[in-house]
Amino acid sequence: MADLARAAAMLAVALACLKPAMAAAEADAARGERVFQRCYACHSVDPDETAKLQGPSLFQVLGRPAARVAGFEFSDAMKAKGAAGLIWTPEALDAFIADPEAFVPGTLMALPPLRSEQDRADLVAYLARVGR
Ligand code: HEC
Repeated sequence: MADLARAAAMLAVALACLKPAMAAAEADAARGERVFQRCYACHSVDPDETAKLQGPSLFQVLGRPAARVAGFEFSDAMKAKGAAGLIWTPEALDAFIADPEAFVPGTLMALPPLRSEQDRADLVAYLARVGR
């Protein structure tokens, strides 16, 4: 009986520890992979991208400074953002895809604003996972 009580107590502790992890899992990377269909006409997540797509590879984009993909010709607007220190944090990425033209005025990326907060969160979770 004492064993059972101890097991129950341990389970309670384990569940309490799990809670924050579960909250973070609200963004669904698997769903994000489907949202990426809005991007993959112009972007791949292939580190060895050779096909000449309109946009740069988004392999490990999170944490990367803007406009730093070797061999890709970025707009002056994006290069200026990179030079000014823009890093693709989850927040920056979210703001960019929510409204590319508002976040980087003059960007070459012609993406209609992605209005769904859930879609953006899932997509960012997917891109954070890709290649890691
Ligand atoms: C119609 C083509 C097109 C679509 C669709 C598109 N992009 Fe882009 N994307 C571009 C182009 C072109 C650039 C380069 C922009 C510039 O230099 O101003 C770019 C740049 C980016 C960058 C900056 C990369 C870097 O290294 O600085 C990110 C991040 C990005 N796109 C994410 C996305 C995501 C996420 C989606 C889908 C929701 C998406 N894009 C959809 C064409 C596209």
